[in-house]
Amino acid sequence: MSRSRFLPFSLLCELTFHCPLQCPYCSNSTHYSGWIKNELSTEQWIRVLREAQKLGILQVYFSGGEPLVRKDITTLIRTAHDLGFYSNMSTGGTLIHKELLKEIKEAGLDSIQLSIQDSRPDLADQISGVKKSFEKKIEAARLILECEIPLGINVVIHRHNIDRIAEIIDFAASLGAHRLELANTQYYGWALLNRKKLLPSKQQIEKASQEASKAKEKYKGKMEILFVIPDYYSPFPKPCMQGWGKIYMTVSADGTVLPCQSARDIRSLSFPNIRSDSLENIWWNSEAFNKFRGTDFLPEPCKSCPRKEIDFGGCRCQAFLLTSDAAATDPACIYSPHHHIIERIIQEENPAETPSEDKKFIYRNLKNSKTLQA
Ligand code: SF4
Ligand code: FES
Repeated sequence: MSRSRFLPFSLLCELTFHCPLQCPYCSNSTHYSGWIKNELSTEQWIRVLREAQKLGILQVYFSGGEPLVRKDITTLIRTAHDLGFYSNMSTGGTLIHKELLKEIKEAGLDSIQLSIQDSRPDLADQISGVKKSFEKKIEAARLILECEIPLGINVVIHRHNIDRIAEIIDFAASLGAHRLELANTQYYGWALLNRKKLLPSKQQIEKASQEASKAKEKYKGKMEILFVIPDYYSPFPKPCMQGWGKIYMTVSADGTVLPCQSARDIRSLSFPNIRSDSLENIWWNSEAFNKFRGTDFLPEPCKSCPRKEIDFGGCRCQAFLLTSDAAATDPACIYSPHHHIIERIIQEENPAETPSEDKKFIYRNLKNSKTLQA
C-alpha cells in the first residue's frame, strides 16, 4: 500500500450523542442509548485533537448529536484553533445565544453549518419533533451573521419538502446563508428505519434537480448551492467518503474511531477506541481502516470496471445494510448483482400518493433507541 494515497485530511468529532432535536432522518446509529453514558472527557478530546494534528489532519468538524450541549465546546474550539486547524461546527441552533456565540467566535471557529428542517414553521417543527425549534433556528441564523461567522445552511430533503425546494432555497437566501447544502436523505441510521415515509419519487427528484439548477443561476455569486442526488436514483453510486480510509476519519462521542460516521452499523467489523490506542496507529494499522482501503478488496463486477477508481465500488455501509456483505458492490450501481434490492425498495416504498399517516415517524430519541435495542 502506498501511504501517500491515504493521507488523512479531515476529522469529524462527534462530541456527544445528546441532542434536543429528534429528526427521523438522523444518520447517527439507532443504538446510541447503549453508549451515551460513556462520552469522552475534555482531556481525552484535547488528546484526540493533538494526535490529529500530528497525523497531518487539516480540518476539524465538530458535530454530535448537538455539539453545543457540551459545556467545554469553547475550550475544544480554542484548542483546535491553537493547533492550526480549520474548524467548523454543525449545529441544530436551538441552544445558540449571543454570549455563547461571541465566546465561540473569539475562540477561533471558522464557520457554522446550521441545520434547518423546512421553510415553514409547522412542518419544520414536525420534522424536528420539537415545538418552536424553527423560531430558535431563525434567531440563531441572525445571531451567527451578527457575530460575523460565515453561515452555511443544511436542509435534508425528503418526500415531504422536496416539492417546495425553490421556496426553501429562497428562504435560506433570505436568512443570509453563504452556502446552502440541499442534502437528499441518505438511508442509514434513523433514516433507514423511516425510509418508507421519507423516500421521494423519481419524478420529485427530477423536478427538484431542475429547480436547484435554476436557483444556482439565480444566486450565483451570492449563495453557493449544493444539491446532492440520492443514489437510489442515480445509475452509479457515490464515491462514499472519497474512499474508505482515504482522507476522512470520525471519532464518535464514546471514543470509537470510524472510517465513516455510519460505519458502526457494519456489525461484521469491530472498531478501535481512542481510549486504548493512538489515532496514528488506528489510521495506519487497524483492521477497520484497512479492510476496505483502496480497491483490491472489490469483487466483480467492480474488479474489472473502469469506474472503480472513481467511486470505489460505492458505499460500504449501504452494501452491508442492504446485502449483509460490506465488501459487496453497492446495490445502488446498475451493474451490481444486488441492484434488484434498490429497484424493489423504490417500487414498494414509494407510492405515487403520499398518505397523511406517512408522517408517523420513528423519532431519534433515547426512548426509541432503548426500545430498538431491547
Ligand atoms: Fe462503480 Fe463497481 Fe458499479 Fe463499476 S461496477 S460503476 S466500480 S460500483
Ligand atoms: Fe459509510 Fe458510505 S456511509 S461508507
